[in-house]
Amino acid sequence: MNIFLIGSGGREHALAWKLKQSPRLTRLFTAPGNSGTAALGENIPIAASDCVGLLAFAKEKKIDLTIVGPDDPLALGIVDLFKEAGLRVFGPTASGARLESSKSFAKDFMQRHGIPTADSKTFTDAISAYEYVRGASYPLVVKADGLALGKGVVIAHNVEEAREAVRQSMEEKIFGAAGATMVIEEFLTGVECSLHALIDGKKALLFPDARDHKRALEGDQGLNTGGMGTISPSGVCPQSMLEELQRTLLNRFLRGLEADALGFQGMIFPGVMITPQGPKVLEFNCRFGDPETQVLMRRLQSDLLDLIEATLDGTLATQQPLWDPRPAVCIVLASGGYPGPIEKGKMIHGMEEALASDPEVMIFHAGTRDENGILYTAGGRVLGVTALGETLEEARKKAYAATDLINFEGKQYRRDIGGVAFNPDISY
Ligand code: AMP
Ligand code: GLY
Repeated sequence: MNIFLIGSGGREHALAWKLKQSPRLTRLFTAPGNSGTAALGENIPIAASDCVGLLAFAKEKKIDLTIVGPDDPLALGIVDLFKEAGLRVFGPTASGARLESSKSFAKDFMQRHGIPTADSKTFTDAISAYEYVRGASYPLVVKADGLALGKGVVIAHNVEEAREAVRQSMEEKIFGAAGATMVIEEFLTGVECSLHALIDGKKALLFPDARDHKRALEGDQGLNTGGMGTISPSGVCPQSMLEELQRTLLNRFLRGLEADALGFQGMIFPGVMITPQGPKVLEFNCRFGDPETQVLMRRLQSDLLDLIEATLDGTLATQQPLWDPRPAVCIVLASGGYPGPIEKGKMIHGMEEALASDPEVMIFHAGTRDENGILYTAGGRVLGVTALGETLEEARKKAYAATDLINFEGKQYRRDIGGVAFNPDISY
């Protein structure tokens, strides 16, 4: 099979690495890719949001299957476009992807279909939003409705902060159209966990749970990022809770899709808060998570291509993927200043030594650029250093030992990924 992968992050390198292990893969193209995917196939210089350009390439190369990594092309309708052209493509249509690209749409879906989530209200004008926040209790969570590069959520501790979040989004329009509607919801306490499930329309195939570390700094301080590191399993989601989530989340999700006639074949990735009242959905993502995918692909022992094809064929019920029982860890190495402005083009040293440090270490590229065999930084998140271990502690030791061998100017990472320091209430 000729496969076309869309995206350029650590997620795409991890997917490409796993796809490459499939005996059915002939050629792998990635657009635009990074230096990790370049080593596994061919990178094609077409932007992930250039849906028309991507379609033209897929037709020309007689691509058998296209796999969409990031959210933007899904929200833009890349799947609709490819399907209309008769091409096989993995991901939800634009109407299904609204579950991620519109928080008010997702809230409405969850409320109508009995999926546990924070109580919320949707606002389309600033005056009503100001009025509501004046009488609300705090903290309160104020969210831009649309895709805002992970920056659209504000935890307001008082009415002034809530007013400011509303003002920036609805009046100053710092997120453009994505912030014209806002969802304001109750603040939930607890620990977060990332669930991934393949959806073929009839069946939801749940992957092992994972946990992201979204804040930039240790001890869960600093700004929200795309994710500074992950572990799988999450350590906070026992089997009984996963079974409950299959009932109260995934089965209701499937029934909701059917009732609303939403075309959805692909990956659903709910961010879940485990609250004292039980798990509640914070948000839906309609794609693989990053860096969650980096640990999940390390643990997947079955052929990823089989699972993706079964999703498109509606035969997920026949699949029983095997997972490595050992925990996996991913430490993200970011450029100094991330998630704010960063400097690119710093030379990366120590990759070979880090890879050779342990057979269970694997490094996925995110923002990297290869120039004549020398690697340079080229983005906010640069690398994901992953390791498997007999215990979480062993996996962490291996991943951190490898991380310490890699250097570039401004290298930024968290030393507490999967560590108890980041939440003293949790013991592993
Ligand atoms: P979202 O993009 O909706 O997942 O929000 C980004 C982050 O904001 C989440 O990962 C949480 O850490 C936090 N967050 C979102 N909604 C809530 C909520 N209702 N209560 C507490 N924290 C939240
Ligand atoms: N790691 C969070 C995300 O992919 O949205």
